[in-house]
Amino acid sequence: MEKLKEKILNLKKEKNAVILAHLYQLPEIQDIADFVGDSYNLSKQASQTDAKIIVFCGVYFMAETAAIISPDKKVLLPEIDAGCPMADMITIADIEKLKIENPKAIIITYINSNAEIKAYSDIVCTSSNAVKIVKKLPKCQKDIIFVPDKYLGNYIAKQNLDRNIILFNGYCNVHSKILPDDVKNLKEKHPNSFVLVHPECRGEVIDMADEVLSTTGMINFVKNSAKKEFIICTEIGIMYKLEKDNPNKIFYHISKLAICPNMKKTTLEKVLFSLEDLKYEIKVDKNIAILANSAINKMFELSK
Ligand code: 13P
Ligand code: SF4
Repeated sequence: MEKLKEKILNLKKEKNAVILAHLYQLPEIQDIADFVGDSYNLSKQASQTDAKIIVFCGVYFMAETAAIISPDKKVLLPEIDAGCPMADMITIADIEKLKIENPKAIIITYINSNAEIKAYSDIVCTSSNAVKIVKKLPKCQKDIIFVPDKYLGNYIAKQNLDRNIILFNGYCNVHSKILPDDVKNLKEKHPNSFVLVHPECRGEVIDMADEVLSTTGMINFVKNSAKKEFIICTEIGIMYKLEKDNPNKIFYHISKLAICPNMKKTTLEKVLFSLEDLKYEIKVDKNIAILANSAINKMFELSK
């Protein structure tokens, strides 16, 4: 494994590439990455890097977003079949129907979506800034179509922001496997633990949270907290960095079922092949990219 890592790091330097990895990636992938983070911070990195090539260790929509933001860069996804089932749940026909039914509504789209859906939208958001963005909209903007994640959308709706949030029936089939009983059972075993929940979880699970946070939000919260024990309600990959960064704190992962198979498809070998063969390059239709980029840029403006 060390030889493989060395080869990747040398080739990365030679080709002027940067490796971005999501917090759900395998530990060995996080170890070779230049930057590890949540969807928002990875997008920021993709927009700011000076490198010529971005190797995106994550899922398709993440690399596609990077390609939209940085059209002058070559964006590579080492495993072309690493998709996100939630992103594929909504079609253009679905979103057109919602718009016809709610003509006064603006469309806020979760970053876990395909480029065509982002292009049809007014604003993109991530789990770390969705509530903040809605809060910043003019008060007269009452109707908001939020797609595709019904759980994140419902979480926004419950913040008493005096908006009418119109939901779509999309969800993450990994986070939805986390059940209220899982939290109850762990909390009974570890009563002093603090419960951190990702907003892609079911509403009943979110209701049991001490804090609702994105993945980078969890990393930062734990780092700055005086608390010692945490129940972690999100995908298992985050445990690696939490445990590495905080050797004196204890973490209980919520469920063996909370594993995203798509996030685990990227291996060191595939990263090496990706750099060697410059594969798989993610390209987005120019007209779609221009529209999607405008919705992503609105997110960057409203997240400040
Ligand atoms: P964040 O990394 O933005 O918290 O989102 C989690 C996720 O499911 C990414 O696919
Ligand atoms: Fe998609 Fe869920 Fe996997 Fe994130 S964890 S990539 S939302 S399936």
